[in-house]
Amino acid sequence: MNLTQPVLTTEVRENSGTPHSPPLQPLLIARHIRKTYRTKQGERVLAIDDATLALGDGEFVSVVGPSGCGKSTLLKIFAGIHPASEGTLEFRGKEVKRIPGNMGVVFQSPVLLPWLTILENTMLPARVLHLPVAESMERARDLLELVGLGDFMTKYPSELSGGMQQRASIARGLIHNPPILLMDEPFGALDALTRERMSLELQRIWMANQKTVFFITHSILEAIFLSDRVLVMSARPGRIVREFVIPFARPRDFDLTTTAEFGDFVRAVRHELGASSNE
Ligand SMILES: Nc1ncnc2c1ncn2[C@@H]1O[C@H](COP(=O)(O)OP(=O)(O)OP(=O)(O)O)[C@@H](O)[C@H]1O
Ligand SMILES: [Mg+2]
Repeated sequence: MNLTQPVLTTEVRENSGTPHSPPLQPLLIARHIRKTYRTKQGERVLAIDDATLALGDGEFVSVVGPSGCGKSTLLKIFAGIHPASEGTLEFRGKEVKRIPGNMGVVFQSPVLLPWLTILENTMLPARVLHLPVAESMERARDLLELVGLGDFMTKYPSELSGGMQQRASIARGLIHNPPILLMDEPFGALDALTRERMSLELQRIWMANQKTVFFITHSILEAIFLSDRVLVMSARPGRIVREFVIPFARPRDFDLTTTAEFGDFVRAVRHELGASSNE
């Protein structure tokens, strides 16, 4: 079974078994992204060398790569936090300086404000963006129901477990209906079992929302389990060296991870990561 494909450039292929047929339309195309940071000491750090990738509308794409290879940097460029030093972004077929709209971003730690209730925390982006309050409040309630926190809206973050807080931060990331949900190791701080449960939750939320997700993780298994495609980055300065199209039908459950086919993907991604880390 040939698992690997040539590195994707601008084309987004159809993926089978997802709620996203007919073939996906490219939502975002990033071409030849290069990013150099200047440190406080004045040194230049080349974080991303030449990254080209596309995200299909409604597609779930994961990125794995060695620590320091530029994954978070790429996410920050998409979020509009840092500009790229070189390269172009195309959004819905038009070249843009930054992706329009405010991204939904979920980080490793949920960063909820302790003095606000879960509902108020979820509402924060809507307030900052001055979206209509009544409408946003209804959406916040719906999203909190969706992430299984319907009974916890009036609680404070300290009254919730880590996994529940992370689910609240996913609801918050979706409140303003962002064009892309950007997730940077969102389950990194959770224990193994909670992490598995969160993967199932995220799959459910993604299937209900049909949102494009750009997901960074250090877990090969999580990446394969959740994604339509897994992109592998090389060590710094990062390039996207390989993509894997993940064909398994959805909804997926954890029994899938014990199958020989799934094992083939894990082995192939691990092999690619090992090869690219040693470059
Ligand atoms: N603000 C910054 N100023 C200077 N250098 C930076 C800055 N942010 C990141 N870097 C450097 O850019 C490189 C890529 O960092 P980045 O955080 O994107 O890596 P990463 O792939 O997300 O790593 P990890 O898996 O450890 O989170 C690293 O060498 C890092 O030191
Ligand atoms: Mg990072």
